[in-house]
Amino acid sequence: MVMRTPNPETQHRTSPWIRARLSAVAVGLALFTAACSEKQPQNALDPEGPIAKRLDDLINPVFVVAAIVFVLVQGLIIVAAIKFRRRSDDDNPKQVHGNVKLEIAWSIGPAVLLTVIGVFTLSNLFFLDRQAKGAEVVNVKVIGHQWWWEYEYTDLGFTTANELHVPAGAAVNITLTSADVIHNFWPPKLTGKVYAIPGRLNHMVIETRAEDAGKTYWGQCAEYCGLSHANMRLKVVTHAPAEFAQWARDQAEAAAPISELTGEVAAGAELFRAKGCGGCHTVEGFTAGKVGPDLTHLQSRKVFAGAIFDLTEANLRRWLRDPPKEKPMMPNDGIGMPNLNLTEDEITKLIAYLDSLK
Ligand code: CUA
Repeated sequence: MVMRTPNPETQHRTSPWIRARLSAVAVGLALFTAACSEKQPQNALDPEGPIAKRLDDLINPVFVVAAIVFVLVQGLIIVAAIKFRRRSDDDNPKQVHGNVKLEIAWSIGPAVLLTVIGVFTLSNLFFLDRQAKGAEVVNVKVIGHQWWWEYEYTDLGFTTANELHVPAGAAVNITLTSADVIHNFWPPKLTGKVYAIPGRLNHMVIETRAEDAGKTYWGQCAEYCGLSHANMRLKVVTHAPAEFAQWARDQAEAAAPISELTGEVAAGAELFRAKGCGGCHTVEGFTAGKVGPDLTHLQSRKVFAGAIFDLTEANLRRWLRDPPKEKPMMPNDGIGMPNLNLTEDEITKLIAYLDSLK
């Protein structure tokens, strides 16, 4: 018989009572933080469009099946560990080899289960891969940038940024790509996520309910894409069809000709050119930069800089004073907006001009 000496390492273990209390605190904290947000604007388990609903209808039954399997397997492990535990040093279990019935059961059972789940999953994959058809379908090319989203309305002939406007109740075909690194487009309440990969065109369809006109859905870049990945949000805004048509007509307009501008607005436009803003930003009919967001109709949006700031004068002023301070960027590597060292007076003029871009 082997003599056992107590191991000093295991002599001072935390008592089971303390461990139980620590676990209870951890579980409590997890539940508490999960319940933090009442609105949960990015909760994929609270779908608001037909496509997200269909995904939810797949997730829920699969989760129930997985939960049953989990409880069954873990339960059996616990029962076996307790019932067949070693009771003394020379306690050996009865030696058996194989049980044909059991082995057939636990081979066929999971195979059947996985086949059923697989069939439903595959049919959903084909459903997600389809493209919407019809005269009312809007086509948008979504281009990921470090760290904002560009939306090219290919049939309607204009470009905008960060806020994706769509007609409620209709399908929107989205073609995804990237200008730099891999991003991932994800409005969780409307659909699953799809990669935006440089040099590739991926597809997704988003669809909203007709009764949800006037709603806003938040989303997020879902692939780590560098310093400001967390600051690469997105917004989907829905309109009643007639309102969307009007919005699209407005977006397709060029900005007012520079010769028609007066006062501070004209001075701001001049600065916009002189400071090189136009080298990065397009203002249709004035400048043609393609590095940053198109600003032709900036004031038709409610957010800017990757949809992380509300478009207010105070926020614009803070932003223009020192953009990389407001949002981590790498202007020295040509990524993101640099600090242009503007004076307060220059900022006032630039804001007057930006305010005129309705
Ligand atoms: Cu783009 Cu993360």
